[in-house]
Amino acid sequence: MALERIDKLLSSTGRWSRKEVRELVRQGRVLADGRPALRPEEKLDPSAVSFTVDGIPVDCAPFVYVMLHKPAGLLSATEDRLQSTVLDLLPEELRRRGLFPVGRLDKDTTGLLLLTDDGSLAHRLLSPKKHVDKVYRAEVEGRVDEEDVRALAAGLELGDGLRCLPAVLEPLGDGSVCLVTLREGKYHQVKRMLAARGKPVTALHRLSMGPLALDEGLKPGNWRFLTPQERAELWGLEQTI
Ligand code: URA
Repeated sequence: MALERIDKLLSSTGRWSRKEVRELVRQGRVLADGRPALRPEEKLDPSAVSFTVDGIPVDCAPFVYVMLHKPAGLLSATEDRLQSTVLDLLPEELRRRGLFPVGRLDKDTTGLLLLTDDGSLAHRLLSPKKHVDKVYRAEVEGRVDEEDVRALAAGLELGDGLRCLPAVLEPLGDGSVCLVTLREGKYHQVKRMLAARGKPVTALHRLSMGPLALDEGLKPGNWRFLTPQERAELWGLEQTI
């Protein structure tokens, strides 16, 4: 793996700017493999080095994986001339790394969004051939019923001739709220499927994507890095899908 500067590696975590890292190094608060880092411009192997700052381990994996609780009202895009995007919720250091959302949620959809700069993982998670489960909670006009459950399980055909893969519909309570599990991700798919059943969606929220579930402690608009276990689960999925 290519060597990277210490200030670049530590600032890529999004916790400090490069200037702050330089100051931390100057104050002797950064250890690389247990030894004080002396120069911020020193180059090290990101896949092998382990850092601590003030004695606390810092993970500088070569790629960054961020779980975001997407609020309503933001575009799932990296930039837009007129409207705010989910990238606006992240600090400058992460934006500069070139993170992008893995798949899109509609502007009014809330919930789990994974952002990364790992193009290979994103490609695999999004590939139509991979069939990664995505679970949504939908509120609908009317109530979904057993006929809707059977229709989605059989694979709906939408008005424009689009044939959907079989999907799992699970009514909750009186059926005005339901869970929908998709194995694909076509444009407005949940909304179009439920509209085709005469139950238009009034609110949509993504709960999970493959093994990754939205952290219930994350409020809308908040984000955190994936834990090593979550990353391992995603990579494990990569091996099997
Ligand atoms: N299906 C939709 O209709 N909208 C989303 O944002 C995601 C899935």
